[in-house]
Amino acid sequence: MRILCFMLICAALMNVLPASAEDKADYASDFSAGTDGWYPRSMGGASLDVTEDGALWITGRSADWHSPGRDFPLAAGESYRLRVLVRQNELNEARMVLSVAHSKAGVESYENLAFASAKRGEWTELAASYVAGAFERFVLYVETLGAPKLDFEIKEFTLEGKTLSLNQADLPSLKEAYASYFPFGTAVTYMEAINRTRMDFYASQFNIFTPGNELKPDSVLDVPACQKLAAEDETAVAVHLFAAKPMLDYAREKGIPVHGHVLVWHNQTPEAFFHEGYQPARPLVSREVMLARLENYIKAVFEATETQYPGLIVSWDVVNEAVDDGRPTLRDSRWKTVIGEDYVERAFEFARKHAPEGVKLYYNDYNTAYEPKQTGIVDLLKKLQAAGTVDGYGFQMHHDISQPGYSAIEKAFRRIAALGLRLRISELDVTIPDQSEASLEAQAKLYGQVMKLAVSFADQVEGVQVWGVTDDLSWRAKQFPLLFDAAFTPKPAFRAVLEAAGQE
Ligand code: XIL
Repeated sequence: MRILCFMLICAALMNVLPASAEDKADYASDFSAGTDGWYPRSMGGASLDVTEDGALWITGRSADWHSPGRDFPLAAGESYRLRVLVRQNELNEARMVLSVAHSKAGVESYENLAFASAKRGEWTELAASYVAGAFERFVLYVETLGAPKLDFEIKEFTLEGKTLSLNQADLPSLKEAYASYFPFGTAVTYMEAINRTRMDFYASQFNIFTPGNELKPDSVLDVPACQKLAAEDETAVAVHLFAAKPMLDYAREKGIPVHGHVLVWHNQTPEAFFHEGYQPARPLVSREVMLARLENYIKAVFEATETQYPGLIVSWDVVNEAVDDGRPTLRDSRWKTVIGEDYVERAFEFARKHAPEGVKLYYNDYNTAYEPKQTGIVDLLKKLQAAGTVDGYGFQMHHDISQPGYSAIEKAFRRIAALGLRLRISELDVTIPDQSEASLEAQAKLYGQVMKLAVSFADQVEGVQVWGVTDDLSWRAKQFPLLFDAAFTPKPAFRAVLEAAGQE
C-alpha cells in the first residue's frame, strides 16, 4: 500500500513540477461569503468588512498604502486587464490608485497602475492594463494619494488574463503523504493568516499549525493592563490573543490542531515583565513576585486559549532555548537572574498544574546536534522527566547544508529519543547560499534525510513542522530555506520530503 502511494505521489509530481501558466477562469470578486482572499495591508491597524450591499469596506487606515489587497498568481510576461469600483463618503474628492506590490527573492517593489478622482458618494472606476514583470509574487491593491485616514469601499474587482495555477488538486499533499506517521505542519504568521487564499493552500498541505510569533510573550502579555493591575497586586498578569486570532480562527474553522509556541523564552518577552509595577525603569521584582507572575502568566494563557478556542491547542512549548550555546548549563537571561536556576523546573510545574487535560508539554531548543549544548539539554530533560512535568522534546532543526551535517543530527536525535520522551521536529528549515541546482539538491537531500529519520521514529514523533512555507516569507528569506519558492512552486526539497514518506 505504501509503495503504491509512493508511486502515485511520484506520478503526480511529474505532472506538477514546475508550476506552469495555463488557462484559468478570470477573476471577479465576490464578497457574498466573506472577504474572498482580500486582506487589509497595514501594520495591523486597518480592517476589512463586507458591507450589506456586497462591497469591501476598509477602516482604521493611517497611511496611504493601507489598503484592501489580494495575492494573484500572475505569470511573468502575461498581460492583464484590471478593473475595480471605489467609493468614499468623507471628502469632496479623493485621489485613488490601483497598484501592484511585487516581490522577488524577498524584495518588494511597487507600481501604480491606474489613478482616478473619486467624488464623494460616487462609485468611480479604476481600470488598467498590466504586463506582469519577472516577479514571484503579486499583490493587487487599492490605495489613496494624500488621504491616509480615509475609509473607503471597493467592489466588482475583475481581472482578465492567464494566471498561474497552483494546480492544487494535483499537487501531492505533505499531510496525506505522512498521514500514517504523524501530523505534518507549518509555522504561520499574522500576515499569512489574514490571507485566505494562502491559508487555503496551507490547509491543503498541512494538518497542524503553530504561530510563528503570535503566541510569544511580546504578543500575549498585555503590559498596559498589567501596569494597572500592579497598583493593587504586583503578581497579577493580564493577557490577550489579538495577534494570534486570525490563525486560531482559521484553524478552528477548518478543524486543524495547533501547537502553542511559546510560554517562557529569553527573547520576544517584554522587559516590563520583570520589573516592579511592570515599569522597565523601576527595579527588578523579587524571586517570589516573579514566580507568582510566571504561574499567573501560564495559567492566564491556558485559560484564554481554552475559553476562546476549547481543545484547539494540543501541545505547548513551555520553555524555549534555555540551555546555553557554549556550556552545558542554562543561558543567562532575565528569567535566570530574577528567579534563579530553577525557573525552567518551576515553569514546567506550573504548566502541568494549569494545562488543560491531555495537552502535551514540550521543552524546545536549537543546535541540539552540537556539544556541549546537547549534554546540557539531556541533563535538563532528565530533571524534568524525573519530576514528571515534561512530555516531549522539540528539535528546532534550523540547519544549513554546510553544517552540522546529517550524522551529527542523527546522533543527537537517537540520544534524545533514548530518554523515552515524545519528540517533534518543531521548526525545520535548511538554508542554502544560492538557488543553484547543486544547492537546491543538497537542501533536498538534507530535508529527505531528516524526514526519513523522523519516519523511522514514527511511534515516538508527534509531529514535524516546517518553519514557514514560501521562501519569501521565511525569517531567513535570503537563504531560501523552505519547501516552496515565492510563487508557490514546489522545490526539489518538497519532492525529497514526499519521497521520504515512501520508505518502508
Ligand atoms: C523567529 C520568527 O520566525 C521571526 O519572525 C522573529 O523575528 C524571530 O523569531 N527559534 C524559535 C522561533 O523558537 O520562535 C524563532 O522564530 C526562530 C528561532
